[in-house]
Amino acid sequence: MRSHGPEVNAAEVLAANHREYDRGVDPLLVLAVYRPVHDGWYFTNIGGRTVLDFVGERALLGPGRRALELCSGLGDTCRYLAQRFGCDVTGIELNRAQLDAARERLAEDPELAARIDYVEGDVLTWTPPLPYHAVYAIDSVMMIPDVRAVLASAWRALAPGGRLVLAEIAGGPFIDEAARQYAWEEGAIISLPGADEYRATLSASGFVDIEIEDLTAQAVEFFASVRAATEARRSEMVAIGGIEAHDKWLSMADAYATHFRAGRYQYLRATAVRP
Ligand SMILES: C[S@@+](CC[C@H](N)C(=O)[O-])C[C@H]1O[C@@H](n2cnc3c(N)ncnc32)[C@H](O)[C@@H]1O
Repeated sequence: MRSHGPEVNAAEVLAANHREYDRGVDPLLVLAVYRPVHDGWYFTNIGGRTVLDFVGERALLGPGRRALELCSGLGDTCRYLAQRFGCDVTGIELNRAQLDAARERLAEDPELAARIDYVEGDVLTWTPPLPYHAVYAIDSVMMIPDVRAVLASAWRALAPGGRLVLAEIAGGPFIDEAARQYAWEEGAIISLPGADEYRATLSASGFVDIEIEDLTAQAVEFFASVRAATEARRSEMVAIGGIEAHDKWLSMADAYATHFRAGRYQYLRATAVRP
């Protein structure tokens, strides 16, 4: 599958990752997203518990079952699954600052720490030491130019019968070059295939029982909540990042909401099984 975004090279993708994630825990995200939308969980994603509960339920996670998160960020997505379903979770993450923050948060919870492992690495090259019952990625595949290669990594990590779940911003039926360029410049989002392309690529990668669900309404609601929180927390956000940072959050929430409502982006949840 081609990248579906502007032509960028590996160095530019890495530079965008550093720009977006080297801060570790971003206090503006805490105010605009983690607290108001995700009840204090540090989920750097739109899907939140809707997607994580789906992963746990569809993959029958529980004690003795293993899940792998591709691109685990600050690690709360792994902590949530491990806590709620009692499973073991491995998170693989490229960015050192994200990983350091994830490990620091986990250190506060030794009981959970025994069932969670954060690994530094690139999901495209990391070799899993043992097979997983579930592999999932949330708001992350969209940051990797070669989606087919991510699916190949997921396949290698899954046990036969294991379940893959992805939740990603994707290209909507009316996506155009300006919307692709906005996603890249604003959020380091480079891959925006549409639902049909996701389905075809999952199938070509050998996955079966493919289901794709459109969660765009949740994304629109997400950005409305982000806007409301940004307005409500104006003085705190200005104190942290200045008025420019505050206003940038407002315009970003509006721009994403507009792209979703116009059908230029979709928020998709895909699931499939490795036979
Ligand atoms: C939007 S955040 C999502 C983090 C986490 N999945 C969550 O929902 O909270 C995307 C993460 O993907 C990571 N990432 C991007 N490309 C990666 C790669 N090739 N290998 C591992 N991690 C990667 C970034 O460093 C970042 O932490």
